[in-house]
Amino acid sequence: MKGIIFTEFLELVEEKFGLTMVDQIINQSELESGGAYTSIGTYDFSEMLQLLTNLSQNTSIPADDLLMVFSEHLFAGLTKSHPDLVKHYKDPMDLLASIEGHIHVEVQKIYPDAQLPTFEIVDKSDNRLEMIYKSDKGLYMLGKGLMQQTFKVFGQEAEITCEKLKEDGTEVKFIVIR
Ligand code: HEM
Repeated sequence: MKGIIFTEFLELVEEKFGLTMVDQIINQSELESGGAYTSIGTYDFSEMLQLLTNLSQNTSIPADDLLMVFSEHLFAGLTKSHPDLVKHYKDPMDLLASIEGHIHVEVQKIYPDAQLPTFEIVDKSDNRLEMIYKSDKGLYMLGKGLMQQTFKVFGQEAEITCEKLKEDGTEVKFIVIR
């Protein structure tokens, strides 16, 4: 997993829970990296899972809820680091429908070893988008949060529902209705 995800995550933990919590979750986890991340580096996904699980245990907040909060912070961080990827979008629905064919394609060029999810579009109209998320990482709640955040930054509202096609969350159908 790319370092930018880790650096944004630890930044959020510091912002919401303080530096002591950052140290605590790093110490509680068995991290090959030692907890030192750079945005362009690549680290084992298990490190993120451990950090997230320990944060969830320490705060008694479910991991999925933490992912939703994280997505808000992450969206801001990703678009700040890569403004060119999103600036020409005028419509949040178009942006979401372009993750697979444009945004993550460019991300893959910037970070050749990124392991990105796929979002297959099943159906799209002006106010409705149906797509299927697939990823070994099962981070669909992060995806849901990033979708909600996309609408928020455009000052719009949408109802986003997800239906697990696989129990472990590695395949999930999203329906976005504006
Ligand atoms: C400027 C816009 C965006 C950038 C630069 C970006 C970049 C990235 C990067 C670098 C990763 C990490 C890949 C890795 O660790 O190897 C990632 C993962 C991910 N991205 Fe994006 N992304 C953007 C927008 C979005 C949006 C709008 C969504 C909405 C659904 C999204 C969904 C995800 C998900 C769910 C993951 C987690 C990995 C997984 O589930 O397999 N991204 N993205």
